[in-house]
Amino acid sequence: MTDTSSSATFPAHGGDAINAEATIVIFGASGDLTARKLVPALYQLAREGFLSSKSPIVGVARRPKSDEEFRGEMHMAIKDYARDGLGSDELWASFAKRLHYHQLDIVDPAEYPQLDARLTSLEQAQGIGKHRVIYMATTPDLFVPATEALSKAKMIPKPDAVDTLRIVFEKPYGHDLASAQELSRILGRLLHEDQIYRIDHYLGKETVQNILLFRFGNTIFEPLLNRNHVDHIQITVAESQGIERGRGGYYDKSGALRDVLQNHVLQLLCLIAMEPPAMFRAKEIRDEKLKVLQSLREGSKKLSEWAIAAQYTSAEIGGKVVPGYLQEDRIPPDSHRETYVAMDVRVDNWRWAGVPFCLRTGKRLPARVTEIAIQFKAPPLSLFKTVECEGDFCQLVEDRPNQLIFRIQPKEAITLRVSSKRPGMQYQIHPVKMDFSFDQEFDISLPEAYERLLLDVLRGDSTLFTRSDELEAAWQFLTPVLQAWEQPNHKPEEYPAGSWGPKAADQMLARHRAEWRQPNPV
Ligand code: BG6
Repeated sequence: MTDTSSSATFPAHGGDAINAEATIVIFGASGDLTARKLVPALYQLAREGFLSSKSPIVGVARRPKSDEEFRGEMHMAIKDYARDGLGSDELWASFAKRLHYHQLDIVDPAEYPQLDARLTSLEQAQGIGKHRVIYMATTPDLFVPATEALSKAKMIPKPDAVDTLRIVFEKPYGHDLASAQELSRILGRLLHEDQIYRIDHYLGKETVQNILLFRFGNTIFEPLLNRNHVDHIQITVAESQGIERGRGGYYDKSGALRDVLQNHVLQLLCLIAMEPPAMFRAKEIRDEKLKVLQSLREGSKKLSEWAIAAQYTSAEIGGKVVPGYLQEDRIPPDSHRETYVAMDVRVDNWRWAGVPFCLRTGKRLPARVTEIAIQFKAPPLSLFKTVECEGDFCQLVEDRPNQLIFRIQPKEAITLRVSSKRPGMQYQIHPVKMDFSFDQEFDISLPEAYERLLLDVLRGDSTLFTRSDELEAAWQFLTPVLQAWEQPNHKPEEYPAGSWGPKAADQMLARHRAEWRQPNPV
């Protein structure tokens, strides 16, 4: 691919991408991700004028299918999943025209010249240049064969035209340190780092991006976010669903640590712990995140005290018995794979040394909720102690530590919990909340993570994508844990479906005289 002359509208790195012209090629177009996230997000971008009507969208997969059949499937998908639904018939009709399907055996390089020819003819028909975004929405074992085949078919541009091709890789990016390094090595041989977009959809969430703005766009909180004032930080990514149908095969190879903690949870940790970047640019932000990952340390000498794996068991939720992990579709009945992880880690630097970062994620917990809760130290002197009674049960209540909570989803909000005086003739403590909630402040639906991230790929802004050294640092820290958990004699703890996890995770926090929050879903 050498023709870079014809279109100036595929923006340079970091440029504005209003109405970007590019051919968007989705490998793995028969999959769930394409139907549930990618095409609905592209539809929304097109509707809002971010995607040129000349940009073809080409689904690529092994199954034979006509353009019309593909359009029919995407029509249903958009109806079900696009943020603002399908909208008018004209809107759909103008979008449908640009949807195409190309049958390809992704591992067969001999079939790629035909794909190239098809893309070229679509580009010529639209009068646009060869500016392409390829989205690898395939299983990770196809990343290398697909990229090698693109290279063999000369679909990867020469070094003087690297900006005409960008490839997005879905997670998981490796399954441990060695495999992530190997993947980086191979892709690094075929592609320039600027062409690689490793997606972590959590970074596309509006509230996640707001963490940086909240921290570095205000002066009142940042001086407090350090070891002098913070007691500990809890990061929770809780899901109420179990293993979705058809996902068991993937999940049982992966588990909660690889599926969510290694990427989404650690990215949240980076954003809350990082130093202010010198500039708000991809390189500077990623440099600071990397330092956080390099500073990660285990919170105790004994693995079982700082890293807990657990698996859910069958239980009754809302009058209905739900299966345990071992009874889920495609899960071996003797699997030791964890569906829950809790970790007590440290960020061993000047700002955070000694502050516990308590991380947890799991399936089949009581609610779908993601939040970061910063718990500040208690006041040095407890002046206000009151006895509070609930029925026959009375306890001595002291000032409660302040908490700053970033609610990432649902009901996106930022809350500060402080102590106040309860009106009356005595000094009675009453916890109150100062709230900022997105839906009360802004009368718009928040963009879906994939909308923002696809737009960023089109405009060449990699700020919200992970760099290979970040991934490797994360794997470096976690690989010894995985190795220990994958020993045949290791058995995960158990927790009943619908509960907040195993007792061992509560004991882990009790060592810091702390308790897990039990966030309310609404
Ligand atoms: C994905 C995981 O990356 O994130 C899923 O593979 C998980 O297992 C999902 O359910 C959670 O994302 P969200 O945006 O629904 O919180």
